[in-house]
Amino acid sequence: MSLTNQPIEILSAERIAKRLKDLSQEINHFYEGKEILLVSILDGAIIFTADLLRLLTIPTQLDCLRISSYGSSTSPESAPQITGSLKSDLQGKHILLVDDILDTGNTMERAVHEISSHNPDSIKTCVFLDKAERRTNHFLADWVGFAIPNEFVVGYGLDYKGRFRELPYLGKLPS
Ligand code: IMP
Ligand code: MG
Repeated sequence: MSLTNQPIEILSAERIAKRLKDLSQEINHFYEGKEILLVSILDGAIIFTADLLRLLTIPTQLDCLRISSYGSSTSPESAPQITGSLKSDLQGKHILLVDDILDTGNTMERAVHEISSHNPDSIKTCVFLDKAERRTNHFLADWVGFAIPNEFVVGYGLDYKGRFRELPYLGKLPS
């Protein structure tokens, strides 16, 4: 894979924006009358979180969890490690956990485990992308932006060797 060639667009910025509108409506509807704490998994979920957050009409607080499993390759190198923890008290809160992509499912499993240990009222999960073919556990997200095939993707927050997060679209790298 190359860092110099431009990624090939597979989801346009317009398509992403349209999907996020629908997704946010579902979330707003589901949590009507409640307040939530949105927990974003850094770094990949940063763009998705920023866009989703601005479409939420329910009262929302934000916190971030940093979990990493990838070094600079395109496959997980180790079990996910929590390298940055939450600042909030989770007791009695409704948690919406947000990540960029559900791949093997290890990151989300780790995050849910961590959050559960702090006794929130509820935990739901929302991912921008779901690569179901790669799953090594039974993790299912409550809300999914797009289901995608087993290809390494970049843009809209997702990186390859730290690059391409800034792209407004989702792309795949030319092989
Ligand atoms: P997991 O395999 O479900 O634990 O996903 C681990 C993390 O790997 C995700 O949160 C992403 O940050 C990253 N990841 C997985 N697949 C891709 C991809 O296709 N492109 C970029 N990052 C990815
Ligand atoms: Mg990530």
